[in-house]
Amino acid sequence: MLNAGNPIGVMDSGIGGLTVVRELQRILPGEDIIYFGDSANCPYGNKTSDQIFELSSHMLQFLGDNGVKCTAIACNTISTMADRLRPCFDYKIVSIVEEAAKYVLREHLGLIATEFTVASGKYAELIHEGDPECKVVGKGSPLLAALVDRGDFNQHDINTEIRTQVDNILAREKVENLILGCTHYPIVEENF
Ligand code: DGL
Repeated sequence: MLNAGNPIGVMDSGIGGLTVVRELQRILPGEDIIYFGDSANCPYGNKTSDQIFELSSHMLQFLGDNGVKCTAIACNTISTMADRLRPCFDYKIVSIVEEAAKYVLREHLGLIATEFTVASGKYAELIHEGDPECKVVGKGSPLLAALVDRGDFNQHDINTEIRTQVDNILAREKVENLILGCTHYPIVEENF
């Protein structure tokens, strides 16, 4: 039986969603949280949509079985598939991409995220609902989430990957704001 005292679920492909848990604990200190980070299968960003759907469904099922009243999909990559996942579960599912897109500044934006998230076009689609003129210049990183999830914060590899992808964005558009469209990236925000 679900009630207001039930926990909130938070799920991610790995440790990145802990950045979302930190914020939830700050704004909702009275809530219990069950966190599921699938580091065994991380990174998700290089997988197919069917693979991501199957792995994510297992996480949502596990959280539902443990009585969560809602689940926040912290992972941007999984969030792009929220419309496909929601009909399979009978509890509330919140997508970070849908929420984040409401709050970004309405001007030309850079987006760095997993290759899957960028290819999905979901950020651009949702941002254009707010401002059709806003230009979103995206670049996927095939490496950064896995480098962070592994926990060996090799500064050289991380900085090289960030530099490569951000330079690619800047070569196309002189954006002044960059969306860190992957939960793992705020962990290395200082490197950006
Ligand atoms: N943390 C995930 C995200 O926010 C992606 C990391 C991964 O590739 O698994 O997109």
